[in-house]
Amino acid sequence: MTNTQGKSRPFDVLILGSGAAGLGLALRLADRARVAVLSKGELAEGSTYWAQGGIAAALDPADRLDAHVADTFDAGAGLNRPETVRMVVDHAPACIDWLVNLGVPFSRAGEDPKALHLTREGGHSHRRIAHAEDATGRAIEETLLRHARAHRNIHLFEHRIAVDLITARKLGEAEDRVLGAYVLDCATGGVEIFRAPVVVLATGGAGKVYLYTSNPDTASGDGIAMAWRAGCRVADMEFMQFHPTCLYDPRAKSFLISEAVRGEGGRLLLPDGTRFMQRFDPRGELAPRDIVARAIDHEMKRLGLDCVYLDVSHRPPEFIAEHFPNIHRRCLELGYDMTREPLPVVPAAHYTCGGVLTDLDGRTDVDGLYAIGEVACTGLHGANRLASNSLLECLVFAETASQDILRRPPATPHEAPEIPPWDDSRVTDSDEEVIVTHNWEELRRFMWDYVGIVRTTKRLQRALHRVDLLLGEIDEYYSHFRVNCNLIELRNLAVVAKLIIVSALARHESRGLHYNLDYPDADPALAQVDTVLAPDTGRPGLAPPRVCSPSPATPGGSAHGQAPAADH
Ligand code: FAD
Ligand code: SIN
Repeated sequence: MTNTQGKSRPFDVLILGSGAAGLGLALRLADRARVAVLSKGELAEGSTYWAQGGIAAALDPADRLDAHVADTFDAGAGLNRPETVRMVVDHAPACIDWLVNLGVPFSRAGEDPKALHLTREGGHSHRRIAHAEDATGRAIEETLLRHARAHRNIHLFEHRIAVDLITARKLGEAEDRVLGAYVLDCATGGVEIFRAPVVVLATGGAGKVYLYTSNPDTASGDGIAMAWRAGCRVADMEFMQFHPTCLYDPRAKSFLISEAVRGEGGRLLLPDGTRFMQRFDPRGELAPRDIVARAIDHEMKRLGLDCVYLDVSHRPPEFIAEHFPNIHRRCLELGYDMTREPLPVVPAAHYTCGGVLTDLDGRTDVDGLYAIGEVACTGLHGANRLASNSLLECLVFAETASQDILRRPPATPHEAPEIPPWDDSRVTDSDEEVIVTHNWEELRRFMWDYVGIVRTTKRLQRALHRVDLLLGEIDEYYSHFRVNCNLIELRNLAVVAKLIIVSALARHESRGLHYNLDYPDADPALAQVDTVLAPDTGRPGLAPPRVCSPSPATPGGSAHGQAPAADH
């Protein structure tokens, strides 16, 4: 195996992440820029691949862009940034056209080859979800990858995990800008320098910070933690979305039962067969996700249940097999026939609404650094994401960010400072991997127990205490031992956990996905107030609208950070 330690690879644009956001952007840029796309596992591994329900756009003649806007605000409990919602919704139909032209095999309505079948999901007032059966993400990811592989200007690197961003400030310069990233080659264990005047975080969300999640293993919040350490503000981290219906079966790691099943008539039942959603919301099973997940959590705690049930067996078996072939097949493999019986389901962490604060072009606080997709907080989702608005956000911001990147003046390489190679001369290989595994489990469990669907201030404070202890231990471990994938992810998860806890403690109300029994009502004074946390860099950043800065947090304790040389 070749050791590539210290190798420096120059590109025009470095994209961290090969999901819908990263690949969408690469394809928009590739005719005019030399682009590197990195993924920490295999290229198709990420939330995009697992997306089921679809992608939202007001395509039906009876639908209206304004209705999509209104539904997005309604789900987001009004916290959404109006200009973002408008821009994303307006771009949605063209975005679907772009995917159709690339060859994404969307399900069609009837015989008309041009008309897409639109399904329905919670919080949508119309049928609005374009989908490829019940595996929309896979269809999108495979199509984007096929095009990316064929483009000579797109260089794909898998099994490369970015450890940290390299910025001019970290190298001692007064004017900050991004210069690239240190990247661990998981095959060789060497840390390389990927150098670029534009770096885009498209690293997805942080569902793995919770014990139970619908997310794949890639979702460890790396981009949020890296941006934080680089000096970017993050926003609205308290709004972690729990999907109401993951299959309750220990063999089915993270298997989601799409909201489209409820959209097509699925009913939530208690073990005695009674429906309960109408007691919580007149929209019943089609209420927005925060309401449905909270109702299930309430009923499970009230009755001491392990799960509730989702029943669509009143629909014809052919209809189920046609609309949900993959879910049907996977459930059959596990011994559940959804055409004949209800499925056991529980809520699980699903989507990170908060993230790196960006503007409408995906720009962050650091010059040249962009964040798009689930890693970002653009203001689209507010306090709760509307179903199927996420793939849409990835693709719309891929477009706007690409335009902004292509407008930037060309970089002048001779002005870039020399980047020191990664220095691991003072660390050794760990002989105590058990510490990483133990801390990992402890973190995810207390996040589930204390920072979950229903919170209290006391539980949040308990979680804060625990995460501070863990951060200390992890920092110490990190400074003594050679980095590997698990350690990098654990360190990032702990930073993200702290950002979530500090944000949750700062919001003295219940809104959208953040529900605190000590503040059970929404406070109208906070209706337009984001929770923005700023690392202490002493540098002014973007000035997005309606920002409040609650007490400054210092998650991650990462003044120690990464290894431009002397840190280890
Ligand atoms: P991802 O697709 O998660 O890709 C992240 C990429 O970043 C991966 O390539 C990963 O390897 C890479 N990466 C991460 N960290 C690093 C690092 N340190 N170094 C290098 N690379 C790194 N949304 C919808 O709109 N509709 C749906 O129907 C839908 N269904 C869903 C079903 C499931 C089961 C899940 C989990 C999510 C679903 N979502 C859905 C949400 C949506 O899929 C995601 O929000 C979206 O796909 C995120 O795309 P992304 O490109 O931002 O990140
Ligand atoms: C689902 O299919 O239920 C997921 C949709 C989404 O997360 O938007």
